[in-house]
Amino acid sequence: MIVLGIESSCDDTSVAVYDSERGVLSNVVSSQLIHANFGGVYPEIAAREHTKNFLPVLDKALKDAKMSLKDVDAVACTFMPGLIVSLVVGVSAAKSLSFAAEKPLIPVHHIEAHIFANFLVKEIEYPFLALVVSGGHTELVLVKDFEDYVYIGGTLDDAVGEVFDKVARALDLGFPGGPFIDRLAQQGKEVIKFPRPLVGEKGENRFNFSFSGLKTAVIKEIRKGIYSKEDIAASFQNAIIETLLKKTLDACNEFNVNRVVIAGGVSANSKLREEVSKIKDIEFYYPPLYLCTDNAAMVAYTGYKRFVKYGKGVDLSFEAKARLRIDKFPQLLRDFHS
Ligand code: KG4
Ligand code: ZN
Repeated sequence: MIVLGIESSCDDTSVAVYDSERGVLSNVVSSQLIHANFGGVYPEIAAREHTKNFLPVLDKALKDAKMSLKDVDAVACTFMPGLIVSLVVGVSAAKSLSFAAEKPLIPVHHIEAHIFANFLVKEIEYPFLALVVSGGHTELVLVKDFEDYVYIGGTLDDAVGEVFDKVARALDLGFPGGPFIDRLAQQGKEVIKFPRPLVGEKGENRFNFSFSGLKTAVIKEIRKGIYSKEDIAASFQNAIIETLLKKTLDACNEFNVNRVVIAGGVSANSKLREEVSKIKDIEFYYPPLYLCTDNAAMVAYTGYKRFVKYGKGVDLSFEAKARLRIDKFPQLLRDFHS
């Protein structure tokens, strides 16, 4: 089966072709560098860029896969969550293609796609814990099966990637900031012990995160100008990684799982990968770098799994949404299919 995947939930326009027999045949990503001028994603500009980039990206994805639309069996698209003005560009395109070419339309949840990106490398046994860390999301999800998700916790304020981007901006680095901090931190050492927010919490925030206080503490320290950029980057990054891993390991204990999938843009972080390699009794999985940040290959693959399950798509009335937690998505689909 051949699935065309479409991703436009934030500032990357991506189209991919996945073949269930041969794997990913193409995965074209056009990143909107224009946001570097602002140090953050401007929704209206993102939407305009998607509109401009979509057709060239689609054309290249089909050419790279050496096929045309008629060879595709279904069209999968990220419907939620994300910037609504960005999402609707991809969703409108997916609906148009599905309608014109008479192919089933398969909705995909963005967080789900990040998690299942890992399966493009290797199938992972259920249950497992997913730590989803990206520019827009920080979540811990227990994945009992495909479409059987338990939300364990998430950020109460800023997403972890967003904090990397804001600290990078305060340090005068480029955008997105994660990769710049990652590289800079390799030359620094932990000279300041920044707070590990909500670590050790016993109550309802046990598996939740809160990064805005840490962000403010780091930015204040940068303004004082005492320590080098390298040392600030290393100190900040250590605080983030220690917090993420402590909560993840606590959740493994609580839910009795020994497999953890790390997904989303921040899973590309080299220090995070180094730290998990030191943890022996838990098996960690993370995708290759090109599948960490937003891409349509993960959408096409998740769409393929969905089509195998339902044997049909949704009609054109299925709508994009800015927000919907991953654990609520399967019920939305079931309601729609019933
Ligand atoms: O998954 P993604 O492409 O988009 C969202 O769904 O949000 O994640 C983008 C985020 C950005 O905040 C970026 O700074 C961060 O992932 N990122 C990293 C690294 N590479 C990308 N953060 C830390 N270290 C990295 N190496
Ligand atoms: Zn993402």
